[in-house]
Amino acid sequence: MEKPKAVLFDAYGTLFDVYSVGLLAEQLFPSQGQALSVLWRDKQIEYTRLVTTSDDGAHYQPFWELTRASLRYACKRLGLDLDAGNEDRLMNQYRHLSAFPEGRSVLQALKAKKVTTGILSNGDPDMLGIAVRSAGLDGLLDHVLSVDSVRRYKTHPQAYQLGPVATGLAPAQILFVSCNAWDALAATWFGYRTLWVNRYHLPFEELGTQPTRTGASLDDVLAFF
Ligand code: LAC
Repeated sequence: MEKPKAVLFDAYGTLFDVYSVGLLAEQLFPSQGQALSVLWRDKQIEYTRLVTTSDDGAHYQPFWELTRASLRYACKRLGLDLDAGNEDRLMNQYRHLSAFPEGRSVLQALKAKKVTTGILSNGDPDMLGIAVRSAGLDGLLDHVLSVDSVRRYKTHPQAYQLGPVATGLAPAQILFVSCNAWDALAATWFGYRTLWVNRYHLPFEELGTQPTRTGASLDDVLAFF
């Protein structure tokens, strides 16, 4: 099969490690850090779907706002007292996530092979810009695509369509990489070739479609080339 001409990465959980947020949450709310970070993430994704599915996107808010709203919800749900200082600390941690260590070398290897690289993320442009810079990945990405430009979150087709539009390639010529099973699934439905990076040994979605490949780390991108 022809090699992909471009590789697009999901951002949160895929290039950027959201685990550090869980560590800080545990420091702030001992014994609740894990529960908070899981509920926070689940609610964040639920909110992206809620605002995308309802009223044709009329209730869109940028990912940063949904991230804050979902943090507030998760704390209330768990009975945790989130004062303004702790909210700022957790949100600031979210802004400056570290990148998974192998991401940089994978991007360098792709650039050496003259493969087009990019991010396609729910994150808004400000968040993504800061995350890319603080992880030292600027210069290795040809495209940083935010769904904010279409105000529809993944898994809306308009969000995935940003990849073909930016690269001028057909979805099947692009490899889409995500650690989120739902994202890898919907990207496969959209027509991308996909790599699901199953870092946390989770089952894949049970909806009858499989990603093109499953890997254990971002290094598995290079097996496509
Ligand atoms: C993103 C979320 C889904 O970066 O992780 O798009």
